[in-house]
Amino acid sequence: MSKVWSQRFDNTLNPFIEKFNASIGFDKKLILEDLDCSIAHAKMLGKTQVLSSSETVQIINGLETIKVQFLEGKFFPSPPSEDIHYCIEEKLISLIGETGKKLHTGRSRNDQVGTDIRLWLRKEIDNLEILIIDLQKSLLNHAKSNVYTLIPGYTHMQRAQPLSLAHHLLAYLEMFQRDRERFKEVRSRVNTSPLGAAALAGTKIKIDRQFTASELGFEKIYNNSIDAVSDRDFCIEFVSASALLMSHLSKISEEIILWVTDEFSFAKLTDKCATGSSLMPQKKNPDVPELIRGKTGRVYGHLQALLTMVKGVPLAYNKDFQEDKEPIFDTAETLSSCIKAMTILIKEGIEFNFENLSASVKNDFSNATDLADYLVKKNVPFRTAYQIVGEIVKYCLERKMLLKNLKIEEFKKFHPKFEEDVFVELEPLNVVKSRTSEGGTGFTQVEKEVNIWQKKLLI
Ligand code: ARG
Repeated sequence: MSKVWSQRFDNTLNPFIEKFNASIGFDKKLILEDLDCSIAHAKMLGKTQVLSSSETVQIINGLETIKVQFLEGKFFPSPPSEDIHYCIEEKLISLIGETGKKLHTGRSRNDQVGTDIRLWLRKEIDNLEILIIDLQKSLLNHAKSNVYTLIPGYTHMQRAQPLSLAHHLLAYLEMFQRDRERFKEVRSRVNTSPLGAAALAGTKIKIDRQFTASELGFEKIYNNSIDAVSDRDFCIEFVSASALLMSHLSKISEEIILWVTDEFSFAKLTDKCATGSSLMPQKKNPDVPELIRGKTGRVYGHLQALLTMVKGVPLAYNKDFQEDKEPIFDTAETLSSCIKAMTILIKEGIEFNFENLSASVKNDFSNATDLADYLVKKNVPFRTAYQIVGEIVKYCLERKMLLKNLKIEEFKKFHPKFEEDVFVELEPLNVVKSRTSEGGTGFTQVEKEVNIWQKKLLI
């Protein structure tokens, strides 16, 4: 089929350049969005009487037929069409003849492609929202049953203070909540219609931008036609929000990988999400969190690619922008598969090792702060108490003992205000229970947190 624009040219395109220029190989993903965009545009041209009503009906029926043929697997967008926009237009003309050539009145592929990606991204963001909620619910389920399960808390990867396992897991719910908020914000900017900006300057054809915007469910339209066809901020914002979400998934992946090592043994992988080694029969590998951690790099890479793509690009549309699609397509796909995999891992792939968790918090110095706080309660200034406890810890380390193994007489040698009740204070459960400050790991606080999340996620 001859190119839609071929009349201006004497010669045909070099076959390699033709391929190089084409985006059909990947923008075919936008077929449904492109059809919806064209249907809205045709309806609008009918309404403003640029098209007669019979032309409008013919075009819309033609586009609907293409949609059905595609959904039934009878039509595959493919070369030699350069991109999905030409592909649909060519197909329409082949279906309904001359009238099909009127579809492109008053628009350009520049505003068309911008509309298509926004429609596609809006749908993807809505799907991601559902997936993130599901992930949050799976974490909350573990949290609900583990308010009183203790886990060592770390700073600098050094034992710091014991925590409620629920509190630890709920920290991830907060991260994923921020991700949802970010996507919501991005969505509002994605949901702006560039349609009608035409190539860059608007058009003299009688169009109704508000009409097409509302047909396509856009909240508003771009004010400036030049900005409308050259804005790719929303792609970068989407990938940026995605990169942050991946960093959260990567963080929890790393923790799971550590937890299931022999060294930590805080949890084990069930057979549903673990894989074996081809050589070492004893191995059970955490491939799922490792893959998620690895895939994080791709999304970071896409962010870099897009930022570089827009750098120094003058107004208005430039072909550079064709490069926006693969990064956002791959980002959305990577995100949805990683969130799903993590949800399955949390739901059925991991079991906490309660014995090891409880043993681990009993055998360290993570109650040292509580010893200092004990003296603070008895009116010893914190800095003094801190120094005294430092000396006690040193004393214990030299004797290979824990704080709880000291005799009360030994405590008293360090400070006369130590009494028998100090041992109660050193108990890990009491250590955690006592962190009653708002947002802290104290059980009453954590119970509150769980309840708030339950309401928020409507479980
Ligand atoms: N395939 C192109 C893209 O994805 C469509 C827009 C082309 N516009 C143009 N003026 N060449 O960006």
